[in-house]
Amino acid sequence: MDIDQLAEKIIEGGTRNAAVSGAGMSVESGVAPFRGKGGLWEKMDPMKVAHIDAFREDPVPYWEMRGPFIKSLETIDPNPGHAALARLQREGRLGTIITQNIDGLHEAAGSTDVIEFHGSVRTLRCMDCSRKIPSRSACLDDRPPRCACGGVLRPDVVFFGEAIPPEALVRSQQIASDCPVMLVVGTSAVVQPAASIPVIARRAGALVVEINPERTPLTDQVVDVFLEGWSGEVLPALAEAVRRASC
Ligand code: APR
Repeated sequence: MDIDQLAEKIIEGGTRNAAVSGAGMSVESGVAPFRGKGGLWEKMDPMKVAHIDAFREDPVPYWEMRGPFIKSLETIDPNPGHAALARLQREGRLGTIITQNIDGLHEAAGSTDVIEFHGSVRTLRCMDCSRKIPSRSACLDDRPPRCACGGVLRPDVVFFGEAIPPEALVRSQQIASDCPVMLVVGTSAVVQPAASIPVIARRAGALVVEINPERTPLTDQVVDVFLEGWSGEVLPALAEAVRRASC
């Protein structure tokens, strides 16, 4: 199936189409991925820094890793891939984006219907009094940042060892079981339950399109159309093909 035939399918699916995005979506915005070239987990063990038990024992390694990243989000911009998905949503060719990313770049690009499957670093929560504060108002240079009550602050993300918020999980599974086309963008598809969302879609009869410079465990199992390349290049080309096919 070529990109023009794919564009026709996307037009047919309309706002029932869905997307799943991963860290690869934000690489062209300058955000390091977790796995593969330049990946965070190539340099440190996620179970030592990003597991809830490790964080409870000592939150400093997490904050040493993620404090600078959270501070940098004020200066990181969405890339043409985020903009292309937001355009497809605006033009009624894409509905929900289920993102594993915690960087908020889909919303920053103007996307509306976004499920933050692994939460977001935009807000922090106190481990003692549970108060929530915007990340930008915390002292992110402190190791760890603390609440006014003295409690340790944690980001509103899903750590390893924690469950996906039930409403995010159920809604994502429902969307996957009803979408005509599912775009799977920039994910290594090795973390569950996120990696099962495209499988649910395929089993329900969706056309699954993967956009990634590398093949993943999904590519040979559930992917119908593999568009090899960078999301910041492939997605704008796909959105343009949809525009052409709409004329
Ligand atoms: N465009 C598209 N894909 C890209 C690009 C790019 N420019 N650059 C890299 N990729 C691909 C890589 O080939 C890889 O398949 O993006 C994927 C990134 O994989 P991961 O870093 O594992 O990111 P992700 O799949 O989102 O990780 C899932 O793991 O550690 C947890 O919570 C974390 O949400 C994260 C989850």
